[in-house]
Amino acid sequence: MRTAKLLIASVLALGLGMGAASAAVGPKAPVQEWPHTGFFGTFDRAALQRGYQVYKEVCAACHAMKQIRFRNLEGIGLSAAEVAALAKEYETTDGPNDEGEMFKRPARAADRFPSPFPNELAARAANGGAYPLDLSLIAKNRAGGENYVYALLTGYRDNPPPGFVLGDGMYYNDWFAGHQIAMGPPLMADRVTYADGTPATVERMAKDVSTFLAWAASPHLEARNSLGVKVMLFLFILTGLLYATKRKVWRNIKH
Ligand code: HEC
Repeated sequence: MRTAKLLIASVLALGLGMGAASAAVGPKAPVQEWPHTGFFGTFDRAALQRGYQVYKEVCAACHAMKQIRFRNLEGIGLSAAEVAALAKEYETTDGPNDEGEMFKRPARAADRFPSPFPNELAARAANGGAYPLDLSLIAKNRAGGENYVYALLTGYRDNPPPGFVLGDGMYYNDWFAGHQIAMGPPLMADRVTYADGTPATVERMAKDVSTFLAWAASPHLEARNSLGVKVMLFLFILTGLLYATKRKVWRNIKH
């Protein structure tokens, strides 16, 4: 009895705790249609590549993605040669060498994406004290995932609702917890020129970069989905075989 009471109490406490935790999160972002969600989901390769372009040309000025290595980009459909050429555009710090000194060299496919700032303090100093967090796992670490990222990027308002007092250097955003964010609207129409000719509207860029961030946070999603499909198929066939066996075994037995 006591254990039962304890159990109920702890379940309640957990529930309340989770309620409190989710209350700190902003409003629930509307769910968009994504080809990669759902049981058979696969990423849209063209959107992934456009999304990488948006990250590279816009977000990477402030946000690192330390978990991602250049060679991971083969997962969005780039060839090994394309990845090597891309990596070479960057310099990375390596070492120490025989003299004990760090040195710069062109990045290679096995290197992580370089960070825009050497450390958190430098990042904050350049952003009015706010920290542009690492985006590698953002689509997993925020409620709503890629829906939240999309809502955030398209959720800026020039004029906050009457009565809302906006802090200095802050921007009003419908979807950020507390509604004021230190990141100015990073996207405006034609901010990038897409290699595939897709018109670069704010919504398109937001959707593409959100797709890219969803992939970065779950690069194995497709493998998991296709394993899931195989398992279901296997179970389906197994059920059929077992049923046939059962019929055979019971054929001559009255039941
Ligand atoms: C000029 C610098 C800058 C650029 C460019 C920039 N950001 Fe930010 N971003 C910031 C800063 C600073 C914060 C922290 C804001 C805060 O805490 O108020 C932030 C926060 C965020 C957050 C976190 C919101 C949260 O829930 O904590 C996301 C997601 C984000 N940025 C995505 C992006 C994406 C995607 C791009 C590219 C399209 C981008 N940012 C471009 C500076 C930038």
